[in-house]
Amino acid sequence: MEPSPPLTQRLGVLLSGRGSNFIAIADNVAAGKIPAVIAVVISNRPDAPGLMEAERRGLDARMIPSRGLEREQYDRQVVEVLRERQVDLVCLAGFMRLLSPYFVSQFPSRILNIHPSLLPAFPGLEAQRQAWEHGVQITGCTVHFVDENLDAGPVVLQKAVPVLEADTVESLSARILEEEHRVYSEAICRVLSGCLRVEGRRVIGVSA
Ligand code: GAR
Repeated sequence: MEPSPPLTQRLGVLLSGRGSNFIAIADNVAAGKIPAVIAVVISNRPDAPGLMEAERRGLDARMIPSRGLEREQYDRQVVEVLRERQVDLVCLAGFMRLLSPYFVSQFPSRILNIHPSLLPAFPGLEAQRQAWEHGVQITGCTVHFVDENLDAGPVVLQKAVPVLEADTVESLSARILEEEHRVYSEAICRVLSGCLRVEGRRVIGVSA
């Protein structure tokens, strides 16, 4: 008889900084709203507040420094830890590094990222400032599958946020961040449910 797959899926969270998206995910996992466990949290920066919060919560928190390493050399170390911790879904949560083709090939359609704009508009750094300076009236956030290009893979979920006349970059960023915290957990649940199929660039819902 074939061994049955594990009931609880295992998340690996990668971050580089503040970690507010990680905290929202961890809270939803703890509240039973995401049917998964956080198997490991990895930071490439030793001083990332998100990593300290992971430690405080008693999670397996690892610092893998990226300084001075070639992209793939670094990614091989990260993938080794994700494999060792039997991670099913990798969630980038403010992980400010491009992944190598090697990393992407190890987790096909199993790496998610969140970005603070309605992609493909405003990829890269300071997306909220880019949107504000461009004068758009609607921006938002996007959860997408990760490929080897910057903020570029197939879109899983998006949420629109209006830009108000009185907005500053800071007030706009704060409203987008609130939506990020909701939409990332929802996207994770959708992916874990197995009811999504990727067809080219399109992510299509199928009945489970
Ligand atoms: C978030 O706004 C996230 O969307 C963004 O970094 C911030 C991390 O905040 N990610 C990107 O711009 C990816 N290109 P957090 O550490 O509080 O989650």
